Amino acid sequence: MTGDIDRVLIGADRIAETVQRLGQEIARDYQGREPYLVGILKGAVVFLADLARSVPLPLTMDFMAISSYGTSRQSTGIVKITQDLSQNIQGRDVIIVEDIVDTGLTLGYLKDLLHVREPRSLAACTLLNKPSRRKLEVHLDYVGIEIPNEFVVGYGLDYAEKYRNLPDICVLKEQVYANG
Ligand code: IMP
Repeated sequence: MTGDIDRVLIGADRIAETVQRLGQEIARDYQGREPYLVGILKGAVVFLADLARSVPLPLTMDFMAISSYGTSRQSTGIVKITQDLSQNIQGRDVIIVEDIVDTGLTLGYLKDLLHVREPRSLAACTLLNKPSRRKLEVHLDYVGIEIPNEFVVGYGLDYAEKYRNLPDICVLKEQVYANG
């Protein structure tokens, strides 16, 4: 697996610092409330597990799974829910937790979908942001690190379901895509 890596873009230490900072920002903004964190499977699982432990407030963790139609390196924004939330979010302070916002189409769709369920508030937190690829302007309340237009894997992010368990965020060798 490590033989497929071209280079480390963001190392585990920088990821940990960023997650701590995001956790502090959320704790400051949600003082006295109980945020309802919604992790988008599967990419946000690793991030959500660390983020939740860096927010010193009572909170709820829930998950949604979606499948987007498109090739594995490109999303179309046409999204199908394959697993819904386990609780009603009406009146709750919901924070969508994403691994990466690229075109913005997935997050835009999710925000519209959850907004209809009448949460008290609806915010978005992403570890990575690729603003150069945006197709839909979508408001981000908490942003970890802006990255250039490169496809990355690790810390939850995959290529063809692999590399999610890498502790660093990495760029793969071009030949991995050519072979796969
Ligand atoms: P968007 O709808 O284009 O913003 O894409 C969001 C989803 O595409 C993310 O939740 C990821 O699952 C996937 N994605 C976008 N860029 C990358 C990347 O660089 N590496 C891995 N997955 C990505």
